[in-house]
Amino acid sequence: MPTLKTSVLGIDFENPFILASAPPTARIDSIDKAFTLGWGGAVLKTITPDNLEMIEASQRYAAWKNGNRVCGFENIELLSHLTVQQWLDGIEFLRRKHPTKVQIASIMAPVVKDEWQTLVRTLNDAPIDAFELNFSCPHGMPEKGIGMAIGTNAEISAMITSWVKEVAKKPVFVKLSPNVTNIAEIAKAVENTGADGISAINTVQSMMGVDLDTFVPMPNVNGKSTFGGYSGVSVKPIGLRCVAQIRQNSDLPILGIGGISNWHDAAEYMAVGADAVQVCTEVMINGYAVVRAMKQGLLDYLESKGFTSPADLKNKAIANLSAHEKLDKSKQVYPHINDELCVKCLKCVTVCDESEHSALSLQNAHIEVNRGNCVGCSLCSHACPKSAIIMK
Ligand SMILES: Cc1cc2nc3c(=O)[nH]c(=O)nc-3n(C[C@H](O)[C@H](O)[C@H](O)COP(=O)(O)O)c2cc1C
Repeated sequence: MPTLKTSVLGIDFENPFILASAPPTARIDSIDKAFTLGWGGAVLKTITPDNLEMIEASQRYAAWKNGNRVCGFENIELLSHLTVQQWLDGIEFLRRKHPTKVQIASIMAPVVKDEWQTLVRTLNDAPIDAFELNFSCPHGMPEKGIGMAIGTNAEISAMITSWVKEVAKKPVFVKLSPNVTNIAEIAKAVENTGADGISAINTVQSMMGVDLDTFVPMPNVNGKSTFGGYSGVSVKPIGLRCVAQIRQNSDLPILGIGGISNWHDAAEYMAVGADAVQVCTEVMINGYAVVRAMKQGLLDYLESKGFTSPADLKNKAIANLSAHEKLDKSKQVYPHINDELCVKCLKCVTVCDESEHSALSLQNAHIEVNRGNCVGCSLCSHACPKSAIIMK
């Protein structure tokens, strides 16, 4: 039988599913509950110096739903409202009650050496396993020159990492923003000044929508809005790309984050380089108990592939990533229509017609493929409402 146990920078994870720094890790009693329900660890809601003002807006969330499913989630929430002392007491309590669970202290401070180092020194002797530097919150904080304002600047990111590394007694992960042109460059910059690992990604800067009666963008905060951070299942492709790009350029351990809602998503992150994963929005929408199916699903998958632990899965897809110019373009796939599923709605014919190729037509109650016109793009298979088309 495989195990879910994994080790990152000498930190033992009983399973690779940890809670991301966010509302599910904002209270000590709720982290206690999450550990009891099976999470392998938690990144605490970002801790700041006590004098950093945190005034929250109401409402602070907006969602994009497909039916009942929340596909994308936007927030304009700030950081932890607990004092540093409350965290110190809470970390102690959690360590005593859950000695095997990983606790990572997410921290953020103004761009002042002494502020960062004081925060690190205060937390250094607490029973945490690592630090995570939040260089990536895209709302509220950048206006103060911190959060994403740090993570979008390689030089400042590298400088703060070196300040923290001068005094930190625990490994240091740097949590990066996807809102940059080249995330691997920022990862390399912080690696060069001592980062021990990378967490990626934080939220994607976004605007959820606009109310066309009032013309107030969402979320509406007493008649005004601001840009927020996008998360949930719809950001997974962005997170995967970021993690893969970091992995292509660095061997540092990576905690993969972004749109993970089940074991499959987690396994994909591992295949492109993540050592373990963090989850936020899925827990906010469906509760801590989602971890049970995640753990069982990953365990079953590892067994089905003959892997002994998550470490065996790590980086498995990286060798199959290439530059576009190096892809083998000598072979082509074609659509195959399953007549039992096809309802002859002709949507595939329409989209093929109107998106360049006109390769499909209805003939004798069957969708025919004109191989001369078909370029194997796969659009028809994605547009089919009955999943009746596969590409072979
Ligand atoms: C409401 C909310 C609050 C968050 N607060 C923090 C925070 O305090 N610190 C931090 O590093 N990330 C914060 N995040 C970002 C998450 O940790 C995570 O990086 C992001 O949501 C992507 O993961 P997900 O798709 O699983 O939610 C927050 C996310 C949400 C939705």
